[in-house]
Amino acid sequence: MIIEVTNEEEMKAFGARLGRHLNGGEVLELVGDVGSGKTTLTKGIATGLDVDEDVQSPSFTISRVYSARDGLTLAHYDFYRLGHAGIMANELHETILNPRTVTVIEWGGIVEGALPADRLTLNIVSPTETTRRIIVEAHGLKSRKIEQAL
Ligand SMILES: Nc1ncnc2c1ncn2[C@@H]1O[C@H](COP(=O)(O)OP(=O)(O)OP(=O)(O)O)[C@@H](O)[C@H]1O
Ligand SMILES: [Mg+2]
Repeated sequence: MIIEVTNEEEMKAFGARLGRHLNGGEVLELVGDVGSGKTTLTKGIATGLDVDEDVQSPSFTISRVYSARDGLTLAHYDFYRLGHAGIMANELHETILNPRTVTVIEWGGIVEGALPADRLTLNIVSPTETTRRIIVEAHGLKSRKIEQAL
């Protein structure tokens, strides 16, 4: 499935739509260049999960955790600055296994081995300064259900 948005607000709106379909236990892998809109998309996902706090890029802290609706937690990772997976792979593994947690990952390459097969990959490309094409790929049953609901 491919979605095109023409500005930041549309990206957030798409994220919110996606976020409303999440029930916990899902893993979303966001792929795209610096500034493609991964964190912006995550802000929208947080809205769809009724997160009250302002979502900030976790590029320096590696991870940030937010309380969401229905007793869910949004765990947002950015592994860009992580030199090697190390202990983070264990932490991520625990997070992913939690059925009350929605896990969103930016720059997941370094923890590739710790990512579950069943994840929804959202590949973002930026043909222009404000246009974004989001290629949504489901890799298993759970992620396929989300894709179909969109
Ligand atoms: N349609 C759009 N969707 C998302 N962001 C957009 C769009 N048009 C312009 N932008 C701008 O692109 C930038 C996206 O930044 P963002 O931090 O979300 O990217 P990122 O992929 O998370 O980058 P990084 O890899 O550095 O974490 C913002 O400055 C945003 O205002
Ligand atoms: Mg980011």
